[in-house]
Amino acid sequence: MFKLVKEKKEKVRILGHRGAMGHAPENTLASFMMALEMGADIIELDVHLTRDNVPVVIHDEDVKRTTDGEGQVKDMNLSRIKKLDAGSWFSREFAGERIPTLSEVLAWAKGNVPINIEIKNGPNFYKGIEERVVEELAGHGMTGEVIISSFDHVCLKTIKEIEPALRTAILYSCRLCDPVYYAKYLNLSAFHPRWSYVTKKFIDDAHAAELAVNTWVANTPDLMKRLIDMGVDMIGTNYPDRLKKLLSSR
Ligand code: G3P
Ligand code: MG
Repeated sequence: MFKLVKEKKEKVRILGHRGAMGHAPENTLASFMMALEMGADIIELDVHLTRDNVPVVIHDEDVKRTTDGEGQVKDMNLSRIKKLDAGSWFSREFAGERIPTLSEVLAWAKGNVPINIEIKNGPNFYKGIEERVVEELAGHGMTGEVIISSFDHVCLKTIKEIEPALRTAILYSCRLCDPVYYAKYLNLSAFHPRWSYVTKKFIDDAHAAELAVNTWVANTPDLMKRLIDMGVDMIGTNYPDRLKKLLSSR
């Protein structure tokens, strides 16, 4: 099981946001492999559910922005999703990349790299997405190698009810009144706040309660430095190579 709260002497961990989305088409195996090559310690991906209940890795509920197709994931069976080209929109070099299933990514990641699975729920609410994700993780023996995050905190509560051993983290873009109290209520392992709401006091309070602070998305060295100096545990970035270079130089 990978550790979430880093030791004081350890370096900040690099969370590859949708893989290495600054360099490759987001949420594809090409992007995940590139993130790993660039030094990512953990990879973030987004999950939706197809019409035939398969968790697939894509950011939007609609395939239009990141494939050559059109339509909502919830209305498409896996066989149709798999025909889509998820690479050409980014660059011709990636033509033919497919939308991966969560299962395919887990098979690739197992023993290789931990995964942060972000469950996308809303505006389309997927009935049973929590059960399906938990099943996939159990099937791959990966329950201890992932952290599940979501902006839908109800979904995270359901995940813990189904599988208490899974680690969860709230995504949010605001300042919380009593974050540690809320974390205890949801039995969380970590906070995943947008970088703009992170303060040193919040990080210290979280760490005192053994909760990790993994923030997103920092792409410039100045912002990365600021977050490192405050003491965050992980930084999500579209450019794992930039963060790697910065950490190596410190
Ligand atoms: O990990 C945080 C980040 O992924 C949340 O935003 O929209 O990129 O999924 P989004
Ligand atoms: Mg995400």
